[in-house]
Amino acid sequence: MSASRAAVILAAGQGTRMKSAVPKVLHKVGGKAMVDWAVDVAAGLGCERTVVVVGAHSPVVGQHVGARLGEGAVAVQDPPLGTAHAVRAAEDALGDFSGDVVILYGDTPLTRAETVAALFAKRDSGANLVVLGFEAGDPFGYGRLVLDDSGALARIVEEKDATDEERALTLCNSGVIVVDRAVLFSLLSMVKNENAKGEYYLTDVIGLARSSGFRAEVVVADEEEMMGVNSRVELAEAEHEFQARKRHHFMLAGVTMIDPWSVYFSHDTQIGNDVTIEPGVFFGPGVTVESGATVKAWSHLEGAHVGKDAAIGPFVRLRPGAKLSAKVKIGNFVEIKNATFGEGAQASHLTYVGDAEVGARANLGCGTITCNYDGFDKYKTIIGEDAFIGSDTALVAPVRIGARAFTGSGSVITKDVPDDALAVARGRQKDIPGWAKAFREKKLAERAARGGKRKEAE
Ligand code: UD1
Ligand code: MG
Repeated sequence: MSASRAAVILAAGQGTRMKSAVPKVLHKVGGKAMVDWAVDVAAGLGCERTVVVVGAHSPVVGQHVGARLGEGAVAVQDPPLGTAHAVRAAEDALGDFSGDVVILYGDTPLTRAETVAALFAKRDSGANLVVLGFEAGDPFGYGRLVLDDSGALARIVEEKDATDEERALTLCNSGVIVVDRAVLFSLLSMVKNENAKGEYYLTDVIGLARSSGFRAEVVVADEEEMMGVNSRVELAEAEHEFQARKRHHFMLAGVTMIDPWSVYFSHDTQIGNDVTIEPGVFFGPGVTVESGATVKAWSHLEGAHVGKDAAIGPFVRLRPGAKLSAKVKIGNFVEIKNATFGEGAQASHLTYVGDAEVGARANLGCGTITCNYDGFDKYKTIIGEDAFIGSDTALVAPVRIGARAFTGSGSVITKDVPDDALAVARGRQKDIPGWAKAFREKKLAERAARGGKRKEAE
């Protein structure tokens, strides 16, 4: 049987190269804070306890993690004296946990749980310590993995402490390690800071483990998964890779994208099969699109649900709480916020619907506006099934339009409309026969008297 699992996530770095008031690990990739990517890897691995090591300089990281995992999951490393020192800072927060500990990082959002699972599998098959390594295109700056003749890991040497021969090695340390808790902390207590950087190196535990008779092994993964983010340039590179993965994933799951490279997803976007997504679509967090739906070009969705066989866009904005049932049609320049649309309801052009319930098959004409806000509070609009809202209707909430009711174009509706009624709320049309002809003749006569010249506007 495999051992219990816990995770220690290192996130105490300063992140100065981000040049940001926001701590590095709270910057987002795919709409999710980088530290949460690591927390989710730990969860995906079934870790029963996760401790995030934060720096004293950024209490907001502790607050962020505490809000999700509880205060007990936060350990403060003050001051930061190296990666071994950081892991030691997590010891108390691990409490009475016994079993395997995986060390993860708050600034490597592309590491996958499946990849780290291979380290646990190697632990279960007898290795005492397992390190995740990768073949680096450019190994500069990384710790190098020194293997022995049997292929086991002999030690890790940091760039600054390496000999020329060691620097020529391209198999590098990702920093991710799986090791039994008791072994880990007994080795950490032996780590010294007598090295080029004067830091307590986590990587020293390998050499120490070997001297104590433990066996260390390596699992090799793709370099791209190990990418750490230190600057906005690397943040954008990580985002790029995240988007590439999502596009690939959705296409294999049966989603058609005419130009996948122009479609942007969030970490939690859900898209059913046989959905077609046209170019230039952005999915913010919290969007679900059911199968058969079409999202036309240049639409922006966030916190929204698009039902089966619905069609939205082009140029649609769905804001949080927009819930569209099956077969809904939403056309160009329509914005929907916190509103439900029943099956087959439509809003085809130039409309704002906020804080509303729209019944099945209701049709909102061009220029329909829910006036939902008075500067202080928000009010609700309810539109019954099969209602027909005339073009340029302003619905002043709170207001209810009955089932099958009509509103006349240009109406400002301030009172509830009964089922099956027509509400007209605008000035009644009055015709003055011949007025235009008389006006024109008078003006032409005035112009002739001036010598045929138009009077120039001042
Ligand atoms: C480390 C590894 C190196 C590996 C590389 C992979 C050590 C000694 N070296 O080097 O072998 O190839 O990562 O990217 O471990 N941190 C703390 N507290 C500290 C120091 C660091 O929380 O006191 C965190 C940092 O925020 C960062 C991570 O640990 O997320 C790694 O630290 P960093 O200083 O970047 O180590 P490297 O020199 O890159
Ligand atoms: Mg680093």
